[in-house]
Amino acid sequence: MRVIHDTSELAAVADRTAFVPTMGALHRGHGELVRRADQISRSKALAGVLVSVFVNPTQFNEQSDFARYPRTLEADVALAERAGAAWVFAPDVATMYPAGLGAGVPRLPATATKPGLEDALRPGHFAGVCQVVGRLFELVRPSVAVFGEKDWQQLAVIREMTTMRSLPIEIVGVPTVREDDGLALSSRNVFLTPVDRVRAVAISRALRESANARAPSEAGLVMRRILAEEGIAPEYAVVRDANTLLAPTEGTREHRALIAARVGNVRLIDNARWAWNG
Ligand code: PAF
Repeated sequence: MRVIHDTSELAAVADRTAFVPTMGALHRGHGELVRRADQISRSKALAGVLVSVFVNPTQFNEQSDFARYPRTLEADVALAERAGAAWVFAPDVATMYPAGLGAGVPRLPATATKPGLEDALRPGHFAGVCQVVGRLFELVRPSVAVFGEKDWQQLAVIREMTTMRSLPIEIVGVPTVREDDGLALSSRNVFLTPVDRVRAVAISRALRESANARAPSEAGLVMRRILAEEGIAPEYAVVRDANTLLAPTEGTREHRALIAARVGNVRLIDNARWAWNG
């Protein structure tokens, strides 16, 4: 395992990698991304798995969130290595943004501006995500990049951005890893109080139960009812077109149920596949 900090060292790494971009604070969910990247790397005879660890200042809406984001590089490197990574790229801000934080903000795809979900609730967030992922893609030049499905809108945005820029990178989504009680793994879970940790399970339960609804609008009501039983008022609890993230139409082939909710003072997001019943 080699830890790389600067771009000249990075340039010496073979081009054809399976890439897992992260902000560190790695948990079992990230381990799954690295394992999947390793499988892909072996099956396509790529050079190996490269994990980036960079807490990107431009994608945080609140400075306090950026400041308290856990920084655990040593543990991250150990986890990445155990899961099969060959390299960890851990740049600093100057390496990532040599022309300053405001430079290189790209034209945003529709999935980053139109759905009225994370885009509306976290203004500027996807501009920061596209900026950092675009820069990482430029530096790493991977063959494949692996992202978690837990951040479903982010995955859709990155897929669309990659297509818009005609980048020769295959984007792979990996299903969400969950605790035994259903809670989606997230770096934010450590901030839940013990009581809120129990209440937070209502989010995955709501998504599961929404599968029994006969229409997207009914699914929204089911999710809100289950969340309300735990005193949780979601920021959204909706079924959308899985690719455009817009309201489903007759032409929608794949649907996704999506929830964002504050539990105590921790904002959680989760999603699941949804299909018409009957
Ligand atoms: O999902 C994340 O951890 C981040 O948004 C990403 C994709 C690494 C960009 O900073």
